[in-house]
Amino acid sequence: MKKPFGIIGAGNIAQTIARHLSKAGYSVTISNSRGAESLKEVVADLGYGVKAAAAAEAAKSDIVILALPWKSLSSLPSLTDWKGKHVIDATNHFISYHPDFQLADLGDKTASKIVQTYVDGAMVVKAFNTLFYKILEKDPREGNGRRVLFLSGDDANFKNEVMEVIKSIGFAPVDLGSLASGGRLQQARGPLATINLIQL
Ligand SMILES: NC(=O)c1ccc[n+]([C@@H]2O[C@H](COP(=O)([O-])OP(=O)(O)OC[C@H]3O[C@@H](n4cnc5c(N)ncnc54)[C@H](OP(=O)(O)O)[C@@H]3O)[C@@H](O)[C@H]2O)c1
Repeated sequence: MKKPFGIIGAGNIAQTIARHLSKAGYSVTISNSRGAESLKEVVADLGYGVKAAAAAEAAKSDIVILALPWKSLSSLPSLTDWKGKHVIDATNHFISYHPDFQLADLGDKTASKIVQTYVDGAMVVKAFNTLFYKILEKDPREGNGRRVLFLSGDDANFKNEVMEVIKSIGFAPVDLGSLASGGRLQQARGPLATINLIQL
């Protein structure tokens, strides 16, 4: 049986990922800070296999995807006991959007290393963060190729699992290595941010 996903967030990137997952037969619980009632229409639009719940409920899922604003990360520790949980970090460290697109000051850390401190003890893979959602929502199959999704992480088993999920939704995974080195390439304004590649 396919593992259920929970998504913390229900906006552009969360809906895009949920749509791909549901098409491939995964069940997905999306969430926001305002409760499931506020997501009725969104869920109806996303279709089969997608439901809404409180963020704490979504955080109980086997695999939890973080798709919330950087400024909201501080709400994560109280959602669940993150020890040993499997987390996909799709966030970017923007603290403002159009027209400034300001980034948080990370010091010498990578964005995902900081995210890891909010989900203490979880295994974290960074993925789904490099493409604008309007690109990510397109059919990943182009001609004879597949759209590339980069990922990085420190737990080999979980990273392999995420690679299989990425393949199952039609994309081509490219493993960039550890969360520290790969994450730096993937994160906002890193060399691979916004790069849209097709693997032939
Ligand atoms: N948009 C893109 O193309 C894109 C691409 C890659 C990565 N990202 C990253 O993905 C993240 C989300 O971006 P987005 O564009 O999807 O933003 P968005 O459309 O503004 O959606 C943000 C979602 O997070 C929810 N949220 C906010 N605070 C929350 C909290 N404390 N607990 C649970 N849910 C919360 C919001 O709902 P409520 O405010 O109602 O709670 C909303 O559903 C950001 O870190 C962004 O940098 C975005």
